[in-house]
Amino acid sequence: MATIQCAATTILLLLLFTSSIPKSHSQQEYVNNKQLDCDNEFNSTKGNICNGVSTSCTSYLTFKSSPPEYATPSSISYLLNSTPSLIAAANNITDVESVAADTLLTVPINCSCSGPYYQHNASYSIKILGETYFTIANNTYQSLTTCQALRAQNRFNDRNLTKGLNLHVPLRCACPTEKQRQAGFNYLLTYLVSKGESISSIGEIFGVDEQSILDANELSANSVIFYFTPISVPLKTEPPAKIQRGATPPEDSPLPPPPPPDGDSDSSKKWVIVGIVVGVVLLLLVGVALFFLCRRQRKKKNEATPPAKPFSASTTTETSKKVLDSIPTSQSWSLSSEGVRYMIESVSVYKFEELQQATGFFSEENKIKGSVYRASFKGDHAAVKVLKGDVSGEINILKRINHFNIIRLSGFCVYKGDTYLVYEFAENDSLEDWLHNDSKKYVNSVSLSWVQRVQIAHDVADALNYLHNYTSPPHVHKNLKSGNVLLDGNFRAKISNFGLARAVEDRGDDGGFQLTRHVVGTQGYMAPEYIENGLITPKMDVFAFGVVVLELLSGREAIVRDKNGTGQQMLSGIVNQVLEGENVREKLGGFMDPNLRGEYPLDLAYSMAELAKLCVAHDLNSRPQISEVFMTLSKIQSSSLDWDPSDDLERSRSVSQTSDSRYR
Ligand SMILES: *[C@@H]1O[C@H](CO)[C@@H](O)[C@H](O)[C@H]1NC(C)=O
Ligand SMILES: *[C@@H]1O[C@H](CO)[C@@H](O)[C@H](O)[C@H]1NC(C)=O
Ligand SMILES: *[C@@H]1O[C@H](CO)[C@@H](O)[C@H](O)[C@H]1NC(C)=O
Ligand SMILES: *[C@@H]1O[C@H](CO)[C@@H](O)[C@H](O)[C@H]1NC(C)=O
Ligand SMILES: *[C@@H]1O[C@H](CO)[C@@H](O)[C@H](O)[C@H]1NC(C)=O
Ligand SMILES: *[C@@H]1O[C@H](CO)[C@@H](O)[C@H](O)[C@H]1NC(C)=O
Repeated sequence: MATIQCAATTILLLLLFTSSIPKSHSQQEYVNNKQLDCDNEFNSTKGNICNGVSTSCTSYLTFKSSPPEYATPSSISYLLNSTPSLIAAANNITDVESVAADTLLTVPINCSCSGPYYQHNASYSIKILGETYFTIANNTYQSLTTCQALRAQNRFNDRNLTKGLNLHVPLRCACPTEKQRQAGFNYLLTYLVSKGESISSIGEIFGVDEQSILDANELSANSVIFYFTPISVPLKTEPPAKIQRGATPPEDSPLPPPPPPDGDSDSSKKWVIVGIVVGVVLLLLVGVALFFLCRRQRKKKNEATPPAKPFSASTTTETSKKVLDSIPTSQSWSLSSEGVRYMIESVSVYKFEELQQATGFFSEENKIKGSVYRASFKGDHAAVKVLKGDVSGEINILKRINHFNIIRLSGFCVYKGDTYLVYEFAENDSLEDWLHNDSKKYVNSVSLSWVQRVQIAHDVADALNYLHNYTSPPHVHKNLKSGNVLLDGNFRAKISNFGLARAVEDRGDDGGFQLTRHVVGTQGYMAPEYIENGLITPKMDVFAFGVVVLELLSGREAIVRDKNGTGQQMLSGIVNQVLEGENVREKLGGFMDPNLRGEYPLDLAYSMAELAKLCVAHDLNSRPQISEVFMTLSKIQSSSLDWDPSDDLERSRSVSQTSDSRYR
C-alpha cells in the first residue's frame, strides 16, 4: 500500500505538469486524482465548497454494492449513515435484498454545510489492523471521501489507527448553486466514475447534457477524468431507480489513439481511457522504482525509532527472558520480536532512574491506586505498576498481544527484586470506579450512559474473543472483573492485569483442560467449576464477563450485601430471580442502575440481561462461547446506536436551522 501511495504521489507530480484546471470557484472543483496523494492537501480534496443557495438539501451518493459486507440497503445505509427504506425505495428493491456485486446503487442523504464544506457525516469503526485513511476513503467508502478530508476531521494520525477506533467520515456532497438552480437543477449526485466512462456517457445515464456536468466540476471539454473518483452530476429530478451504465470496454483493450487536436463530443471518452492507461503504466514503472526507495526509507525510519533507547535488537522470547532475568538496569534496550506486529509495538526496558523521574520519585500525588503510579515520559502519559517477584509471565503474554481493547505494555524495569511495568495510560480509571466508587470524583460526574455501557461490554467481549480465539496458543484471562477493565479518554474499555492469565493449550480428544489446586481470583466472579475443581477453561472468562455485564446493567457490585450487612448474595444469582417468573419487565426495571435515570431501551436491556444470564450459567457447557457473545453484543450495540440519537438533540438542531433561515 505504501508503494502505491508513493507511486501515486509521483504520478500526480507528473500529471500536474500536464493538466491545469480553470479556477472559477463558481461550482465544485473536481478531485482530479489528487485524492491519491494523501501526504498533501489540495483545495479539491478537502471537500465541496459550501457555495449553494441553501445550507442543506437532499442529495445523492452512488455506491457499488460490494458483497459480502455491503450489498443490502441496510448494510450500506449503516456505512453511509442513510436510511435503509430510502435506499430501498430509490433503487426499487427491499431493505434486506442483496444485490449483485458492482451494481451501482443510489443512496439518498441529507447534505449540509459544516464549516466551509458541504458534507454528509458518517462514522466508521476500524475493523482490522492495517486500515489507513487511504484504504478507508478509497476502498471502503469508494472515494466518496478522501484521505485528506478524513485526516483533517479526525484527530488521529495515520500511524495511530487501531482496530476499534471510531472515525468521523465526511462524505462529499453538494447543493445546487444559484446558477444551477436557474438552469433547472434541483439535486447534485456524487457519482463514482468507473472504468471506461466519460462525461458524455455519464450524462447519458442521467439525461444531463455534457456541458452541465463539466461546469458542475469546473472541468473543460478536454479535461481528463479518472477511474474511481467522485464527480458531481446535476439533476433536475430524482435519479432513476436503476442506473444503466454504458458498455465497459474489454479489460485489456489496446492503447487508444491519441486524442484529436480539436476536442469533439467524443473526446472526453478517449481521455478517460488514456488517463487510465497512462496511470496504470506509470503506476507499474514508478511503483517498481519507488518500491526500493520506500523500503530503504522505511528501514531508516525503523532504525531511528525510538530515539531515546540506543540499542535495538531482534530477539525471541528466550532472549527477552534472559534480559529480564539477568541484565542489570544499567542499560536501556529496545526489544522487538519477530513479525511486523512487533515492529509497531515494542517492549522497552527502562532504567530505574527514568521511572523515578517520570513518576516524580513515586510521589504520593502520582499514585493512582495501590501500587500504580501515573508517569510522564516526555509528555506522554503512562501508568507504572510495581510488582514483587517474577512477573515474566505477564510480560511474556502482553508482549505477544496487540489489541485495541487490551492494555498495552510499553516496557518494564527490574530493580532490587521488584518489577516495574509501564503501561499505556487509561485516563478514566477503571469501570469499577465509575459503577461503584462513592468518592466525590465519580459521584459528581455524569454517570455512564447506556450507549457507553454497551460499548464497554462490546469492547471487553472483543478483547476476550481475541484472547480465546485469535492468540496462539489461546489464553484465558482468569481474573476479569470491573476493577480490571480500564477506560480511556473516550470511555473505550481496555482489559488489564494479566497477572493470572495463562495459555490453555490442551484441547485434546478428552477435552482436557488444565486443573489447578491453587484457586485464586475474586469472589463473585469465579466460575463454580473453578472454585470446586480448579478447572481452567475459556468458559471461566465467559462467566466473569457475565458478571461484569450484570454490573453494567444494575450498577451493583458482584457481591451484593444485604441492607443490614448480615447476609450477601451473588449478582450472578440475582439475575435468575429477575428474569424468571412473572412481571419480568417491572422486575428488570427495578434491577437496572438508577443512575441511568430510565434512559435506556428496555428491550435491549432485556436482551443484554438474558445474555448475561446465559454467561453465568452454573454448567459451563450451557454458557455460550465468547465469539457468540461478541456477535450478539454487536447486534445489541448497533441497535443501541439507532436508538441513541436523543430526540432532544435533533429537535434543537432543527429549531436552530429554522431560526437561521428566518433571517435570510
Ligand atoms: C484554495 O482555497 C483558498 C481559500 O478558499 C484560496 O485562497 C486559494 O487560492 C485556493 N488555492 C487554489 C490553488 O485554488
Ligand atoms: C420495480 O420493480 C418491479 C419488479 O421487481 C417492477 O414491476 C416495477 O415496474 C419496478 N418499478 C420501477 C419504478 O422501476
Ligand atoms: C433528511 O432529514 C429529514 C429531516 O431531518 C428526514 O426526514 C429525512 O429522512 C432525511 N433524509 C435522509 C435521506 O436521511
Ligand atoms: C458533521 O460533522 C461536523 C464535524 O464534526 C459537525 O461540525 C457538523 O455539525 C456535522 N453535521 C451534521 C449535520 O451533523
Ligand atoms: C481504489 O479502490 C478500488 C476499488 O476497490 C481499487 O480497484 C483501486 O485499485 C483502488 N486504488 C488504489 C490506488 O489502490
Ligand atoms: C497518537 O495520537 C495521540 C493523540 O491522540 C498523539 O499524542 C500521539 O503522538 C499519537 N501517536 C503516534 C504514534 O502517532
